[in-house]
Amino acid sequence: MNYIQIAIDGPAGAGKSTIAKLIAKNLDYIYIDTGAMYRAITLKAMNLDIDLHDERLFDFVKETKFEFIDGLLVMDGINVSHEIRETRVSNHVSLVSSYFSVRSDLVKMQQHMAEKHNVVMDGRDIGYKVLPDAEFKFFLTATITKRAERRHLDNLERKIASDIFNIEIEIERRDYLDTTRRHSPLKAADDAIIIDTSDLNIEQVVMIITQRVREEE
Ligand code: DC
Repeated sequence: MNYIQIAIDGPAGAGKSTIAKLIAKNLDYIYIDTGAMYRAITLKAMNLDIDLHDERLFDFVKETKFEFIDGLLVMDGINVSHEIRETRVSNHVSLVSSYFSVRSDLVKMQQHMAEKHNVVMDGRDIGYKVLPDAEFKFFLTATITKRAERRHLDNLERKIASDIFNIEIEIERRDYLDTTRRHSPLKAADDAIIIDTSDLNIEQVVMIITQRVREEE
């Protein structure tokens, strides 16, 4: 049986995860948040107290188990959904996600997850690297100010301490690191549909994507 894959890429704060989650719900697909996996590996490395600057110490990624259960990320049997959003993790995830070995281990797991279900997968390299044959590819963008505003509201909702000025700086820094890194930088697949979400609300973007998929499903 052939499963349908929907790839959603874009920079931090473009609304990918909220939108991807709703689309998965509408279509009854599994939602896979790959950014959460890079965050979880960063958290695990910090908990193991290893030197984050030494890529050779990231062998543990291969043995790490991930499950997405009702939108929560469970790593090695523990729900880490809340902790992975903390600022200490956000500040180090670009470094950890720039490592070739970390990326190749996680990409394999992500490809494996998409073999057995219809999936909506969001990230930075899904359309051109993880699922290059996905039936549907979208790339979401928005201005930095809009993205910072959304991340701030999201943090407040999750009851995480938040400062919009710092978020804007963090997003700018992460955009730079994510788009200029050597391995699998953030970019749109050549065949992705690009949607600027700056002046659209969540429901409008969800509708655009869901309609497009239903038309061709
Ligand atoms: O989507 P997010 O902000 O939770 O992602 C956290 C970090 O993980 C982000 O700085 C870039 C990295 N990432 C990546 O390199 N590749 C992906 N497929 C998803 C996220």
